Amino acid sequence: MREAKSVLITGASGFIGSHLVEEGLRRGYEVYAAIRKSSSRRYLTDSRIRFLEFDYHTPEALDRQLSSLREEGVRFDFIVHNAGVTKARSRNEFDLINHLYTRSLVESLERNGMVPDKFVFISSLAAIGPGNPETMQPVSDDTPPHPVESYGLSKRAAEVFLQSTADFPFLILRPTGVYGPRETDYQVVYRNLGKGFEFYAGSSGQRVSFLYIADLVRVIYQAIESDFSRKTWVVSDGSNYTVKEFSARVKQILGKKTIPVVVPLPVVHFLASILDAACRPFGKMPLLNRDKVAIMGSMNWQCDPSGIMNDLGFSPRYSLEEGLKETLSRN
Ligand SMILES: NC(=O)c1ccc[n+]([C@@H]2O[C@H](COP(=O)([O-])OP(=O)(O)OC[C@H]3O[C@@H](n4cnc5c(N)ncnc54)[C@H](OP(=O)(O)O)[C@@H]3O)[C@@H](O)[C@H]2O)c1
Repeated sequence: MREAKSVLITGASGFIGSHLVEEGLRRGYEVYAAIRKSSSRRYLTDSRIRFLEFDYHTPEALDRQLSSLREEGVRFDFIVHNAGVTKARSRNEFDLINHLYTRSLVESLERNGMVPDKFVFISSLAAIGPGNPETMQPVSDDTPPHPVESYGLSKRAAEVFLQSTADFPFLILRPTGVYGPRETDYQVVYRNLGKGFEFYAGSSGQRVSFLYIADLVRVIYQAIESDFSRKTWVVSDGSNYTVKEFSARVKQILGKKTIPVVVPLPVVHFLASILDAACRPFGKMPLLNRDKVAIMGSMNWQCDPSGIMNDLGFSPRYSLEEGLKETLSRN
């Protein structure tokens, strides 16, 4: 008889995935880490980790992998499907990886008698889209989804698929911007602020929300270990900030002074359309693109996580200051 419960983490090599693997081991789970041949194992050095490489692209291959695991007696009690892309060369690529690969995994689990007790899908606040810019009301679990760019649309499509299943035991978590050690996008902001550059596209008054990695990882395991199924929650640390307030906290920790520069949104829009046009013939999406402008141009990325706080008793342990201090000291 198996003693420990098992958890499969997909996208285990990435920022969130590698922290999920560590926490799973710490909690005594038997941890399976799904990665790619090309994935870095830099943060996956513990000898207890069991590695798997899934071919989400080819249903027959995935079926063979899952059925042979079942024949070997492997069972995933829990799955956290965290593999996904936040940057892609095209809308199709977003849809393929974030939506269609999720569907492929779920359908193969069903075909091969490998449905876990709980399947947590790591979606995103982007699947709901921004809040109303007039009322500045934060979005919540009740806000009708209206994603405004390709990433959010692809996450929403995966959510719709999961919600359309008859009885698949999913939980959907929609984290806001997650920061912490090993994360690379906010690192660019810390580095720029450290060098004295403080840039804003459109407005420094855009309101945003955050979640520290340790709190995200904790709430994901709380969700797994709860009795809830077929629920969808937004998750953040419960506070909302302007982007300028975020920079102010980073600058305070770094002990830096900077002069803010706001690049007007029409200028950002113009640059993005030139880059989009230049990259389109090559099927590539530039770093600054219409999707990014849609995100920058939305003033209200605030959210209200009281649903998950009430349901799971989730209470973030890190304020933005505490999370940033830990992040900046470990980067
Ligand atoms: N970071 C945030 O603020 C945030 C907020 C909300 C939701 N999320 C979601 O959280 C998840 C993890 O994000 P992250 O920030 O940890 O990103 P990350 O560091 O880029 O990690 C992404 C993981 O997904 C894997 N992956 C990417 N494309 C894949 C493919 N085609 N086939 C198989 N695996 C693939 C990556 O593998 P390789 O290492 O081989 O590339 C990596 O392990 C994503 O689904 C993201 O949408 C992130």
